[in-house]
Amino acid sequence: MSAQLIDGKEVAKNIRKNLKARIGALKAKGIIPGLAAVLLGDDPASATYVRSKERACEKLGLYSEVVNKSDTLQQEELVEIVKSLNNNDKIHGILVQSPLPKHIDELSVTLTISPDKDVDGFHPHNVGMMLLGRPGLLPCTPYGIIKLLAYYQIDPKGKNVVVVGRSNIVGKPIAAMLLQKSEMANATVTIAHSRTKNLGEVTQRADILIAAIGRPKTITADMIKEEAVIIDVGVNRVEDSTTKKGYRLTGDVDFAPCSEKASFITPVPGGVGPMTIAMLMSNTVTAAENLLAKKKL
Ligand code: GUN
Repeated sequence: MSAQLIDGKEVAKNIRKNLKARIGALKAKGIIPGLAAVLLGDDPASATYVRSKERACEKLGLYSEVVNKSDTLQQEELVEIVKSLNNNDKIHGILVQSPLPKHIDELSVTLTISPDKDVDGFHPHNVGMMLLGRPGLLPCTPYGIIKLLAYYQIDPKGKNVVVVGRSNIVGKPIAAMLLQKSEMANATVTIAHSRTKNLGEVTQRADILIAAIGRPKTITADMIKEEAVIIDVGVNRVEDSTTKKGYRLTGDVDFAPCSEKASFITPVPGGVGPMTIAMLMSNTVTAAENLLAKKKL
């Protein structure tokens, strides 16, 4: 392996360390940043995500609350829960865990979350502010990718960045963030997706390749340029009878051969994943600071 590993665990640890001083300053003013997670049903993957968010809060001394309801909960009831969290002074960040049951209209739930408490950065207000390059809460996974690049001093300025995947959670926002006229941005961004013709030709142009497709080993070594920086956002469960759980996690990138060719590469697990939760903690602290500043005005 010739590529340098981008260690998300180390960077996330560094982010948490820096948050401690900010949390201490808030606590000195009597404020404990609080995060509420709303979880419908008992999908094991969602329950695991929510538990790891709770654990992360606990480790940092943040307040956390989980509202776990049946997946038969009606839209109006969910909206009422979100409204009461909007009005709850102990809560500075609200996230509604997706996927939601089919009978729930996700957009109207997101629109109900106060943009000030939207620590996922999914509210159209925050999405719009991000596109305009204005301050707002940024979505955790893309924000985490920017932090990874910054930690390893990989400046996207003037680089060809190819994002593979156009989801609202990762593909579209990371593309928007990297093309801003600002620090750790100024890239020439291409977005490729499932309908892109000759995907390999497009990805070969990437100085920085961001794979957020959701299909294992989609990016193979022949599709990348020598010395490219490879960011793998994929978290795919593949069957593996040799493990206790019966599955293992694998990314969207064919790791071993790509790591021979790349200059930097993120592993899965241990790359982008730990950053998402670290940035959720960071957004919760930011939301608490912003709410405090607003109250003082
Ligand atoms: N489900 C999977 N990832 C996420 C996330 O980042 N936020 C929320 N709310 N739900 C998710």
